[in-house]
Amino acid sequence: MSHDTTEANRHRHDFRGRESVWLFGYGSLIYKADFPYIERRPARIRGWARRFWQGSHDHRGTPDAPGRVVTLVPQDDAICAGMAYRIRPDVFAHLDVREKNGYLRFTTEMRFDDGTHAEGLVYIASDDNAAYLGPASEAAIAGHIARAHGPSGSNRDYLLRLADALRELGDDDAHVFAIERHLRRLATL
Ligand code: SIN
Repeated sequence: MSHDTTEANRHRHDFRGRESVWLFGYGSLIYKADFPYIERRPARIRGWARRFWQGSHDHRGTPDAPGRVVTLVPQDDAICAGMAYRIRPDVFAHLDVREKNGYLRFTTEMRFDDGTHAEGLVYIASDDNAAYLGPASEAAIAGHIARAHGPSGSNRDYLLRLADALRELGDDDAHVFAIERHLRRLATL
């Protein structure tokens, strides 16, 4: 699959007759809401784990030197914390461009903090997209992140802002926090 998913996403969901749709964000969409939303609420989804396994050619790296950003990988019983936004369907025109580097929209069941549920859409970059980088040790991922920069800023900033946002949500994401520790150690060397 090509890494530019803008066109594929445009045809993926039929929003006719819908006034609003829930979006679940688990990466930069938690801390960088550069789009209008009607409301936002912390939420969790089950069966997916957040991993720094996706390449970023367009935001936190370049085609020649991609950065590493998060995607979700299926994992039984994993719980992924994030932020849910209720948005107008036309906002997806912007989001599909922002998330174009390999991410496709999937439907997911979200659980809010008060125990209620709703269906939402989530952008996931699966392992068959051309920008996918796949697993590496958390130390190696931190080394990679320390070097990468792109049009949206440094890859380091992406990781540190995500880690802060997860702490604010009260989440204990061992993968993200281990990479953060390695990254901070590298900065002191
Ligand atoms: C997301 O935040 O939900 C998707 C990944 C990203 O844009 O960082």
